[in-house]
Amino acid sequence: MTVSAQDVRAAAPKNAPEDVIDFVVRIAELAKPEDVYFADGSQEEWDRLTSEMVESGMFTRLNPEKRPNSFLARSLPSDVARVESRTYICSEKEEDAGPTNNWYDPTEMKKILMEKFDGAMKGRTLYVIPFSMGPVGGPISQLGIELTDSPYVVCNMRIMTRMGTEALDLMAKGQTWVPAVHSVGAPLEPGQEDTAWPCNDEKYITHFPETNEIWSYGSGYGGNALLGKKCYALRIASTMAKRDGWMAEHMLILRLTDENTGKQYHVTAAFPSACGKTNLAMLQPTIPGYKVETVGDDIAWMRPGPDGRLYAINPEAGFFGVAPGTSYDTNPMAMDTMRENSIFTNVALTDDGDVWWEGIDGPTPDHLIDWHGNDWTPESGEKAAHPNARFTTPAAQCPIICPDWEAPQGVPIDAILFGGRRATNVPLVAEQYDPAHGVFIGASVASEVTAAATDVTAGALRHDPFAMLPFCGYHMADYWQHWLDMQEELGENFPKVYQVNWFRKDDEGNWLWPGFGENSRVLDWVVRRASGQVDAIDGITGRYPKFEDFNIDGLKGFDKETWDKLFFVDPEAWDKEAAETEEYFKQFGDKLPAAIKDELAKLRERIAEA
Ligand code: GDP
Ligand code: PGA
Ligand code: MN
Repeated sequence: MTVSAQDVRAAAPKNAPEDVIDFVVRIAELAKPEDVYFADGSQEEWDRLTSEMVESGMFTRLNPEKRPNSFLARSLPSDVARVESRTYICSEKEEDAGPTNNWYDPTEMKKILMEKFDGAMKGRTLYVIPFSMGPVGGPISQLGIELTDSPYVVCNMRIMTRMGTEALDLMAKGQTWVPAVHSVGAPLEPGQEDTAWPCNDEKYITHFPETNEIWSYGSGYGGNALLGKKCYALRIASTMAKRDGWMAEHMLILRLTDENTGKQYHVTAAFPSACGKTNLAMLQPTIPGYKVETVGDDIAWMRPGPDGRLYAINPEAGFFGVAPGTSYDTNPMAMDTMRENSIFTNVALTDDGDVWWEGIDGPTPDHLIDWHGNDWTPESGEKAAHPNARFTTPAAQCPIICPDWEAPQGVPIDAILFGGRRATNVPLVAEQYDPAHGVFIGASVASEVTAAATDVTAGALRHDPFAMLPFCGYHMADYWQHWLDMQEELGENFPKVYQVNWFRKDDEGNWLWPGFGENSRVLDWVVRRASGQVDAIDGITGRYPKFEDFNIDGLKGFDKETWDKLFFVDPEAWDKEAAETEEYFKQFGDKLPAAIKDELAKLRERIAEA
């Protein structure tokens, strides 16, 4: 029994336009699901799907008194994070994908996909998810349809995007949408029992920039399966943005209000996965006189506004955050956000039916069910939660969500931060010399690899330009050129760029900077500097704060000695760093913008003069 064109028509809501129906029919004929269902995004639908998943074993309902309307899912150990080696950009020309992406010929990839998707949804329901990235109908927002055989994906998409009827209404009015197809790649034969986390050992996360299509096969994990997120809002959107003169960036967005003057500043920041975006977005300032409000924690879409400034929206509606390390101590706002209506993946389960992970508040329980579903005690010697365990939680529940977080036109950006995990060399904060230097700062970001991707060695230092290495949908050097072009277009209005590093360590391996809420001190300097209230010291990597301008009031144990370590820029180490960057840039050949090459030469000059 498979779904026919008539079945699709019968299942489709009245407002479903022909092109949407055609798309669903085409995929149904290929993937041969047993049933088809159009998601409307309603509460009733959430209740039904979550209950079905509890019944099938995919979800564990958490104790409603502890964590109302919330669920735990455990994935297979082979499906815990993004798989970069199986992520492909299928542009017509290999050159357009560039040296940092896996390229595959689009026709050849389609052949593979047609084979893989043939019958891939047997025995399952094909869910149709219409969604909007960004406030529904907003001028910067965009539409998509994800077809998936995973109810886990449907429920996560309901949190992460504006999903359902309203998005479909806009499609009915003729707005364009991005088609995205997903299957866990685990068809069920008649009578075959389903597993708690169906997936396939062979995975394909594929993007077709010329036709704006996304096809994802074999994985149920967030970044591989929630196709509105990294696949659409970054990889496909970055190619659209290049074509149409806007920007799709791996950035959080926050509003900082100076409570004394009432002045508002908006800051975006790009850090690689699991390097502090969610934490900075929800920061609780430790210095008086400032308030932080969250606009977004992962992705920013930015466009020039009518006044010539750069405006950003958060295309998402939820947070898909790293659980381990999150606590009332480090990120209380995230903790409060996920008190209810949330999905937890690969965290541990407490005996009273709540969630637990390494780094959460309170004493370690004597007994847990770990992320494998096994009994766990502190003696087990293994982590109870996977290091990339995640929470999916509605942004609207964040106690400090910015009142303008859904402003359709976005918020005007005052400063842009780039950062990464650097135990050595990179100082706490440095300001660009000029716009091209700002792009150079973004282009030369390197960071210690985290658990957010499965197939790269954690801890190793790797280049991650603009924190976009796994997410840029086209040639990385063309992307840098696009930044230079946007800077030229906006001129003085383009926000200044700052390099930050919360992760510098001393010789004993201790953090030199306390981080988290204390990062407000860096924001304080950045906005005072960006608005011309303080001057700075010219140095090798940029302009540094003067010690006396930087607020360290009440920072326990922090003195000039620590400051000097945090801002120590060793010419010899930077000589190596420059040589290494030059080596990295070689792969871009002629495409490397001359302005970036010049910036490397200027860095070398500053090193030589030091
Ligand atoms: P995201 O994936 O970029 O959103 O990163 P998160 O904000 O989820 O943070 C990832 C990890 O880095 C978590 O374990 C955090 O506790 C840790 N982290 C975040 N900010 C800081 C900081 O300022 N200092 C230190 N030492 N760790 C941080
Ligand atoms: P993130 O990535 O660590 O940047 O939040 C999310 C993902 O792995 O999909
Ligand atoms: Mn995050």
